[in-house]
Amino acid sequence: MSTSVRCSDAGLSYRRGLLLVEGVPAGDLVRRFGTPLYVYSGNSLRDRFRRLERAFSARRPLVCYAVKANPNRAVCGLLSRAGAGADVVSGGELFRALRAGFAPGKTVFSGVGKTEPEMRLALRSRILALHVESAEEMEVLASVARRLRRPAPVTVRVNPGVLADTHEHIATGHPGAKFGVPPEEALALLKKASRSPWLRPRGLHAHVGSQIAHTAPYRASLKVLLGLAERARRSGIPLEYLDIGGGMGIEYGAEGSLAPEDLAAAVLPALRESPLRLLLEPGRWLVGPGGVLLTTVLYRKRTSARRFVVVDAGMNDLMRPAFYGARHDILPARATRKPRVEVDVVGPVCETSDFLAKGRRLPWPERGEVLAVLQAGAYGFSMSSQYNSRPRAAEVLVTGSRAALCRRRESAADLVACER
Ligand code: LLP
Repeated sequence: MSTSVRCSDAGLSYRRGLLLVEGVPAGDLVRRFGTPLYVYSGNSLRDRFRRLERAFSARRPLVCYAVKANPNRAVCGLLSRAGAGADVVSGGELFRALRAGFAPGKTVFSGVGKTEPEMRLALRSRILALHVESAEEMEVLASVARRLRRPAPVTVRVNPGVLADTHEHIATGHPGAKFGVPPEEALALLKKASRSPWLRPRGLHAHVGSQIAHTAPYRASLKVLLGLAERARRSGIPLEYLDIGGGMGIEYGAEGSLAPEDLAAAVLPALRESPLRLLLEPGRWLVGPGGVLLTTVLYRKRTSARRFVVVDAGMNDLMRPAFYGARHDILPARATRKPRVEVDVVGPVCETSDFLAKGRRLPWPERGEVLAVLQAGAYGFSMSSQYNSRPRAAEVLVTGSRAALCRRRESAADLVACER
């Protein structure tokens, strides 16, 4: 797919040589809010949510947005108003999700290490279900539920034994991964839950990985879930839903993406006979393309081996290139006819792994020029840190010609605010 197609999907375009996020020139945003700056296109988020819903409309699924991809309140608020539920993985995410307006009845809680306080918060908030990931966790959940006198709605997370073709850090559905329980144990846990007065078995869950470009892992994992649900039904445990997780890939450079229409075509036929409700937990696919990281060129330098463009955003702002070797497209905020040269775009952090792009063909920029790092809406700000004591970036939500600051830039005082 060409960069221009990717751009329109992300709310980006060039007009008279200037890069716009929806109706607002990137340069104006930089003058108003500074850099590094995360900018999200409200229309991209909304349009992608609608497209996903439309693709699965035959089944009317519950789309639980994976809050970890981008927990900003404005982003979550927009998606909850559009009708999404939430998938959370910590007490902190649950707190943020509820505060942003997600309905507790549309919220699910995954994760291998839930603590008792997190379970209490989930039960008190009356969320849709907790995805239990081990026998010991389920025992603790039952005791927390008993003490609160509130039965816990339980989904068992299955590790279906499916190795998704993605980066090894983000494949989660194979036996070597810590997630879920093997299929046989899942059935045993459902039976055990059905015998407890404090547990209510509701469904089955599998999430086989992230940035997946093919439908095969979903079909394989759904087959396991459907088989287990049928066996549970025959054992007198009728379930209410199947959660097939998130993981749909987006276009990063040449990396393949997964269209929701293709995923729907692959999984809906298998569900035709099943009365169970379908849950999805997409994160990246909804919010990734609609976010850019704007950064200013500080210096250029050349060595005998390379040309470096030093920018004011580093691996602490966008960790994905350093951590996964991820490739994010980069565009100049002001179009130019200058010839492209091969450069490394690097940040100010004191690590050789601090790069945003390596060996990329870009017009050799001037100092002060602004670059836009694309596909930064998911796992961008949410994985950012203060490493090297760098205050975290600001975040802005653009809708049409309106730009609203949705998280202020951190200050030096914020860096030490918790220290005693
Ligand atoms: N559900 C569960 C249980 C998950 O663990 C995840 C992601 C999702 C849903 C959403 O997956 P998505 O649709 O966003 O692929 N930091 C990595 C991605 C880690 C994903 C972790 N779990 C990255 O930057 O690529």
